[in-house]
Amino acid sequence: MKRQIATAVCCIVLGSAALGVLASSTLAIAQQKPAKACLESWRANRAANEANGLTQKAYMAQCRSGGASAASATPGASRGAGKDRPVYLTVKDLMQSIIDPSADALWNAVQTIADNEGLHEIMPKSQEDWADVRHAAVRLIEGSNLLMIPGREAAPAGDKSEAEGVELDPPQITVLIRRNRQSFNGFAKALQDLGVEALRATEAKDPMQIIDIGGRMENVCEGCHQTFWYPIEKHASAGN
Ligand code: HEC
Repeated sequence: MKRQIATAVCCIVLGSAALGVLASSTLAIAQQKPAKACLESWRANRAANEANGLTQKAYMAQCRSGGASAASATPGASRGAGKDRPVYLTVKDLMQSIIDPSADALWNAVQTIADNEGLHEIMPKSQEDWADVRHAAVRLIEGSNLLMIPGREAAPAGDKSEAEGVELDPPQITVLIRRNRQSFNGFAKALQDLGVEALRATEAKDPMQIIDIGGRMENVCEGCHQTFWYPIEKHASAGN
Protein backbone atom coordinates (compact mmCIF):
# COMPACT_ATOMS: atom_id res chain seq x y z
CA MET A 1 0.00 0.00 0.00
CA LYS A 2 2.78 2.39 1.05
CA ARG A 3 4.62 1.52 -2.10
CA GLN A 4 1.69 2.45 -4.28
CA ILE A 5 1.34 5.85 -2.62
CA ALA A 6 5.03 6.52 -3.14
CA THR A 7 4.69 5.54 -6.78
CA ALA A 8 1.77 7.87 -7.27
CA VAL A 9 3.60 10.83 -5.75
CA CYS A 10 6.67 10.22 -7.82
CA CYS A 11 4.78 10.01 -11.06
CA ILE A 12 2.78 13.13 -10.68
CA VAL A 13 6.08 14.92 -10.23
CA LEU A 14 7.87 13.16 -13.05
CA GLY A 15 5.05 13.22 -15.53
CA SER A 16 3.46 10.66 -17.73
CA ALA A 17 6.58 9.25 -19.38
CA ALA A 18 7.83 8.08 -15.99
CA LEU A 19 4.39 6.71 -15.21
CA GLY A 20 4.64 4.38 -18.19
CA VAL A 21 8.03 2.99 -17.16
CA LEU A 22 7.01 2.63 -13.54
CA ALA A 23 3.68 1.10 -14.33
CA SER A 24 5.29 -1.58 -16.43
CA SER A 25 8.00 -2.38 -13.90
CA THR A 26 5.53 -2.66 -11.02
CA LEU A 27 3.44 -4.84 -13.28
CA ALA A 28 6.36 -7.20 -13.84
CA ILE A 29 6.98 -7.50 -10.12
CA ALA A 30 3.34 -8.08 -9.37
CA GLN A 31 3.11 -10.75 -12.03
CA GLN A 32 5.96 -13.04 -10.90
CA LYS A 33 4.28 -16.40 -10.50
CA PRO A 34 5.53 -19.26 -8.34
CA ALA A 35 7.27 -22.01 -10.30
CA LYS A 36 5.06 -24.64 -8.70
CA ALA A 37 1.83 -23.13 -10.03
CA CYS A 38 3.35 -22.85 -13.49
CA LEU A 39 4.61 -26.40 -13.43
CA GLU A 40 1.17 -27.67 -12.46
CA SER A 41 -0.39 -25.65 -15.22
CA TRP A 42 2.18 -26.99 -17.70
CA ARG A 43 1.38 -30.56 -16.69
CA ALA A 44 -2.36 -29.99 -16.95
CA ASN A 45 -1.98 -28.69 -20.50
CA ARG A 46 0.94 -30.80 -21.56
CA ALA A 47 -0.61 -32.54 -24.56
CA ALA A 48 -2.01 -29.32 -25.98
CA ASN A 49 1.23 -27.46 -25.36
CA GLU A 50 3.27 -30.08 -27.12
CA ALA A 51 0.81 -30.27 -29.99
CA ASN A 52 1.42 -26.54 -30.41
CA GLY A 53 5.20 -26.95 -30.29
CA LEU A 54 5.56 -25.33 -26.88
CA THR A 55 8.46 -26.66 -24.84
CA GLN A 56 8.25 -26.84 -21.06
CA LYS A 57 11.06 -24.30 -20.80
CA ALA A 58 9.32 -21.74 -22.98
CA TYR A 59 6.04 -22.26 -21.17
CA MET A 60 7.65 -21.88 -17.75
CA ALA A 61 9.45 -18.69 -18.73
CA GLN A 62 6.26 -17.20 -20.10
CA CYS A 63 4.11 -18.33 -17.21
CA ARG A 64 6.49 -17.22 -14.47
CA SER A 65 6.92 -13.75 -15.83
CA GLY A 66 3.18 -13.43 -16.21
CA GLY A 67 4.30 -12.64 -19.72
CA ALA A 68 5.48 -9.09 -19.15
CA SER A 69 9.23 -9.41 -18.80
CA ALA A 70 9.52 -12.24 -21.29
CA ALA A 71 7.72 -10.12 -23.84
CA SER A 72 9.89 -7.09 -23.31
CA ALA A 73 12.98 -9.26 -23.66
CA THR A 74 11.83 -10.34 -27.11
CA PRO A 75 14.09 -8.97 -29.81
CA GLY A 76 12.03 -6.66 -31.95
CA ALA A 77 9.48 -6.05 -29.22
CA SER A 78 10.72 -2.49 -29.05
CA ARG A 79 10.46 -1.95 -32.78
CA GLY A 80 6.77 -1.23 -32.72
CA ALA A 81 6.18 -0.65 -29.07
CA GLY A 82 9.09 1.32 -27.69
CA LYS A 83 9.28 4.07 -25.13
CA ASP A 84 7.30 6.40 -27.33
CA ARG A 85 4.59 3.87 -28.04
CA PRO A 86 4.14 1.84 -24.88
CA VAL A 87 1.82 -1.13 -25.05
CA TYR A 88 -0.43 -1.02 -21.98
CA LEU A 89 -3.14 -3.48 -22.79
CA THR A 90 -3.68 -6.94 -24.17
CA VAL A 91 -5.13 -8.63 -27.26
CA LYS A 92 -8.17 -9.50 -25.17
CA ASP A 93 -8.66 -5.83 -24.25
CA LEU A 94 -8.45 -4.84 -27.92
CA MET A 95 -11.02 -7.51 -28.75
CA GLN A 96 -13.42 -6.31 -26.05
CA SER A 97 -13.02 -2.57 -26.53
CA ILE A 98 -12.35 -2.11 -30.23
CA ILE A 99 -12.58 -5.15 -32.51
CA ASP A 100 -15.70 -6.93 -31.23
CA PRO A 101 -17.98 -3.88 -30.80
CA SER A 102 -16.91 -2.55 -34.20
CA ALA A 103 -17.58 -5.88 -35.91
CA ASP A 104 -21.00 -5.95 -34.23
CA ALA A 105 -21.74 -2.46 -35.54
CA LEU A 106 -20.95 -3.67 -39.04
CA TRP A 107 -22.88 -6.94 -38.74
CA ASN A 108 -25.92 -5.27 -37.18
CA ALA A 109 -26.01 -2.42 -39.67
CA VAL A 110 -27.53 -4.54 -42.43
CA GLN A 111 -29.71 -7.46 -41.44
CA THR A 112 -33.13 -9.02 -41.65
CA ILE A 113 -34.99 -9.45 -38.39
CA ALA A 114 -37.95 -11.81 -38.15
CA ASP A 115 -40.65 -11.30 -35.51
CA ASN A 116 -44.42 -11.86 -35.14
CA GLU A 117 -45.12 -9.08 -37.58
CA GLY A 118 -42.92 -10.55 -40.27
CA LEU A 119 -39.53 -9.69 -41.68
CA HIS A 120 -37.86 -6.34 -41.16
CA GLU A 121 -34.98 -5.22 -43.30
CA ILE A 122 -32.52 -3.17 -41.33
CA MET A 123 -30.03 -0.99 -43.17
CA PRO A 124 -28.36 2.37 -42.71
CA LYS A 125 -30.62 5.13 -43.99
CA SER A 126 -29.63 8.52 -42.68
CA GLN A 127 -26.29 10.24 -43.03
CA GLU A 128 -25.79 9.53 -39.35
CA ASP A 129 -26.46 5.78 -39.77
CA TRP A 130 -23.79 5.62 -42.47
CA ALA A 131 -21.41 7.66 -40.32
CA ASP A 132 -21.79 5.06 -37.55
CA VAL A 133 -20.78 2.27 -39.92
CA ARG A 134 -17.90 4.34 -41.16
CA HIS A 135 -16.67 4.87 -37.59
CA ALA A 136 -16.77 1.11 -37.03
CA ALA A 137 -14.72 0.58 -40.21
CA VAL A 138 -12.17 3.13 -39.03
CA ARG A 139 -11.83 1.33 -35.71
CA LEU A 140 -11.35 -2.02 -37.46
CA ILE A 141 -8.69 -0.60 -39.78
CA GLU A 142 -6.62 1.07 -37.09
CA GLY A 143 -7.43 -1.54 -34.43
CA SER A 144 -5.77 -4.07 -36.73
CA ASN A 145 -2.59 -2.01 -36.61
CA LEU A 146 -2.73 -2.21 -32.82
CA LEU A 147 -2.98 -5.99 -33.09
CA MET A 148 0.18 -5.98 -35.21
CA ILE A 149 2.27 -4.09 -32.64
CA PRO A 150 4.57 -6.69 -31.07
CA GLY A 151 5.09 -7.18 -27.36
CA ARG A 152 1.39 -7.36 -26.50
CA GLU A 153 0.22 -10.03 -24.09
CA ALA A 154 -2.80 -12.18 -24.94
CA ALA A 155 -4.74 -11.26 -21.80
CA PRO A 156 -4.25 -9.47 -18.46
CA ALA A 157 -2.03 -11.37 -16.00
CA GLY A 158 -3.98 -13.91 -14.00
CA ASP A 159 -6.77 -14.31 -16.54
CA LYS A 160 -7.50 -17.93 -17.27
CA SER A 161 -9.15 -19.77 -20.10
CA GLU A 162 -12.90 -19.99 -19.55
CA ALA A 163 -13.01 -23.34 -21.31
CA GLU A 164 -10.03 -25.31 -20.11
CA GLY A 165 -9.02 -27.98 -22.60
CA VAL A 166 -10.79 -26.15 -25.43
CA GLU A 167 -9.16 -22.73 -25.27
CA LEU A 168 -5.50 -22.19 -24.56
CA ASP A 169 -4.52 -20.28 -21.45
CA PRO A 170 -3.37 -16.70 -22.11
CA PRO A 171 0.36 -17.42 -21.49
CA GLN A 172 0.15 -20.17 -24.12
CA ILE A 173 -1.55 -17.80 -26.55
CA THR A 174 1.13 -15.18 -25.95
CA VAL A 175 3.90 -17.65 -26.80
CA LEU A 176 2.02 -18.95 -29.81
CA ILE A 177 1.58 -15.41 -31.17
CA ARG A 178 5.23 -14.57 -30.60
CA ARG A 179 6.32 -17.71 -32.42
CA ASN A 180 3.93 -17.24 -35.31
CA ARG A 181 3.97 -13.47 -35.62
CA GLN A 182 3.65 -13.55 -39.39
CA SER A 183 0.57 -15.72 -39.33
CA PHE A 184 -1.00 -13.58 -36.58
CA ASN A 185 -0.23 -10.39 -38.50
CA GLY A 186 -1.62 -12.02 -41.64
CA PHE A 187 -5.01 -12.41 -39.98
CA ALA A 188 -4.82 -8.86 -38.61
CA LYS A 189 -3.95 -7.58 -42.09
CA ALA A 190 -6.88 -9.49 -43.62
CA LEU A 191 -9.16 -7.84 -41.06
CA GLN A 192 -7.66 -4.47 -41.89
CA ASP A 193 -8.24 -4.98 -45.64
CA LEU A 194 -11.89 -5.79 -44.95
CA GLY A 195 -12.11 -2.63 -42.84
CA VAL A 196 -10.84 -0.66 -45.85
CA GLU A 197 -13.43 -2.35 -48.07
CA ALA A 198 -16.12 -1.50 -45.52
CA LEU A 199 -14.99 2.12 -45.49
CA ARG A 200 -15.39 2.25 -49.27
CA ALA A 201 -18.80 0.59 -49.02
CA THR A 202 -19.93 3.32 -46.62
CA GLU A 203 -18.75 5.93 -49.11
CA ALA A 204 -20.75 4.18 -51.84
CA LYS A 205 -23.63 3.67 -49.35
CA ASP A 206 -23.90 0.07 -50.52
CA PRO A 207 -25.67 -2.20 -47.99
CA MET A 208 -25.17 -5.37 -50.09
CA GLN A 209 -21.43 -4.88 -49.94
CA ILE A 210 -21.59 -4.46 -46.17
CA ILE A 211 -23.29 -7.88 -45.96
CA ASP A 212 -20.67 -9.48 -48.19
CA ILE A 213 -17.79 -7.94 -46.23
CA GLY A 214 -19.42 -8.97 -42.95
CA GLY A 215 -19.54 -12.60 -44.09
CA ARG A 216 -15.90 -12.65 -45.09
CA MET A 217 -14.94 -10.87 -41.88
CA GLU A 218 -16.50 -13.63 -39.82
CA ASN A 219 -14.12 -16.10 -41.49
CA VAL A 220 -11.12 -13.95 -40.62
CA CYS A 221 -12.15 -13.66 -36.95
CA GLU A 222 -12.73 -17.38 -36.80
CA GLY A 223 -9.48 -18.18 -38.63
CA CYS A 224 -7.37 -16.25 -36.14
CA HIS A 225 -9.28 -17.62 -33.16
CA GLN A 226 -8.89 -21.21 -34.36
CA THR A 227 -5.19 -20.73 -34.90
CA PHE A 228 -4.30 -18.84 -31.73
CA TRP A 229 -7.13 -19.12 -29.22
CA TYR A 230 -8.59 -22.61 -29.49
CA PRO A 231 -6.25 -24.53 -31.82
CA ILE A 232 -6.82 -27.67 -29.77
CA GLU A 233 -10.19 -28.03 -31.44
CA LYS A 234 -8.55 -27.77 -34.83
CA HIS A 235 -6.04 -30.47 -33.92
CA ALA A 236 -8.81 -32.69 -32.68
CA SER A 237 -10.95 -32.27 -35.76
CA ALA A 238 -7.94 -32.77 -38.02
CA GLY A 239 -7.55 -36.16 -36.38
CA ASN A 240 -4.27 -35.41 -34.61
C1 HEC B 1 -5.16 -11.53 -35.42
C2 HEC B 1 -5.94 -12.46 -34.65
C3 HEC B 1 -7.34 -12.15 -34.30
C4 HEC B 1 -8.32 -11.62 -35.11
C5 HEC B 1 -8.22 -11.22 -36.56
C6 HEC B 1 -9.50 -11.56 -34.30
N1 HEC B 1 -9.27 -12.00 -33.04
FE1 HEC B 1 -10.59 -12.02 -31.51
N2 HEC B 1 -9.20 -12.87 -30.31
C7 HEC B 1 -7.90 -13.18 -30.67
C8 HEC B 1 -7.25 -13.85 -29.59
C9 HEC B 1 -5.82 -14.35 -29.58
C10 HEC B 1 -8.19 -13.94 -28.55
C11 HEC B 1 -8.01 -14.59 -27.17
C12 HEC B 1 -7.49 -13.60 -26.18
C13 HEC B 1 -7.43 -14.21 -24.80
O1 HEC B 1 -8.50 -14.49 -24.26
O2 HEC B 1 -6.36 -14.41 -24.30
C14 HEC B 1 -9.40 -13.32 -29.04
C15 HEC B 1 -10.56 -13.17 -28.28
C16 HEC B 1 -11.72 -12.60 -28.74
C17 HEC B 1 -12.91 -12.42 -27.94
C18 HEC B 1 -13.08 -12.82 -26.49
C19 HEC B 1 -12.71 -11.69 -25.57
C20 HEC B 1 -12.98 -12.10 -24.12
O3 HEC B 1 -13.74 -11.39 -23.46
O4 HEC B 1 -12.43 -13.11 -23.68
C21 HEC B 1 -13.86 -11.86 -28.75
C22 HEC B 1 -15.28 -11.48 -28.38
C23 HEC B 1 -13.25 -11.68 -30.05
N3 HEC B 1 -11.96 -12.13 -29.99
C24 HEC B 1 -13.91 -11.15 -31.15
C25 HEC B 1 -13.34 -11.03 -32.41
C26 HEC B 1 -14.05 -10.62 -33.58
C27 HEC B 1 -15.53 -10.28 -33.62
C28 HEC B 1 -13.15 -10.61 -34.60
C29 HEC B 1 -13.35 -10.26 -36.04
C30 HEC B 1 -14.02 -9.05 -36.36
C31 HEC B 1 -11.87 -11.02 -34.05
N4 HEC B 1 -12.03 -11.27 -32.73
C32 HEC B 1 -10.72 -11.08 -34.78
C33 HEC B 1 -7.32 -12.92 -31.89
C34 HEC B 1 -7.95 -12.38 -33.00
